[in-house]
Amino acid sequence: MPDNDTIEMLIHQALSMMQRSYIPYSNFAVGAALLCEDGTVYTGCNIENAAYTPTICAERTAFFKAVSEGKTSFKAIAIAGGADRIPDALTSPCGVCRQVMMEFCNPADFYVIMTDGPNSCRIRTLEELLPLGFGPGNMKIRPMGGQS
Ligand code: THU
Repeated sequence: MPDNDTIEMLIHQALSMMQRSYIPYSNFAVGAALLCEDGTVYTGCNIENAAYTPTICAERTAFFKAVSEGKTSFKAIAIAGGADRIPDALTSPCGVCRQVMMEFCNPADFYVIMTDGPNSCRIRTLEELLPLGFGPGNMKIRPMGGQS
C-alpha cells in the first residue's frame, strides 16, 4: 500500500485530470493517476467519441500511456469521477478496465484508490475488485492433452 503522502498526491492528480475529460456525450468526467513501481505517475482522462464504442476510460488512458512509454510494473491507481466535472460518489473502475489492470498488475498487491474529494477515498486491491480474475498467469502453456 502506498504511503499517505503518495495516496494524497495521486488523488490530487486524478481529481485534476477530470478537467481534461472529453465528455460531450455523457457529461461524466473521470480522471485517473497511475503510480508505476519506479515512482513515476501517468495520468489519464476519459475520451468519448461520436460513434460511442471507441470511447476510452480514464484508467485505460493512463495504463496505455504508461505501457507505451515502456512501463509494465504498477503499484496503484487513483480514480475520481462525476457529472459536470464535479467529483461525486466514489467511481469504481468498469469491468474492461479491471481486466486491463489484471494484465499488468499483481491482483493481491495493486491498489485501486477511489476518491470523491481530497479528503475521502476507499481503497481496494485489484483482487477484491476482480476475484478469480483471468490473467497472463492463466495462460501458461500445458503439454498437449495434459491435465492441470
Ligand atoms: N468511465 C471511465 O472513464 N472510467 C470508469 O471507470 C467508468 C466509466 C467513463 C466512460 C464514459 O466516458 C463515461 O465515464 C460514462 O460511462
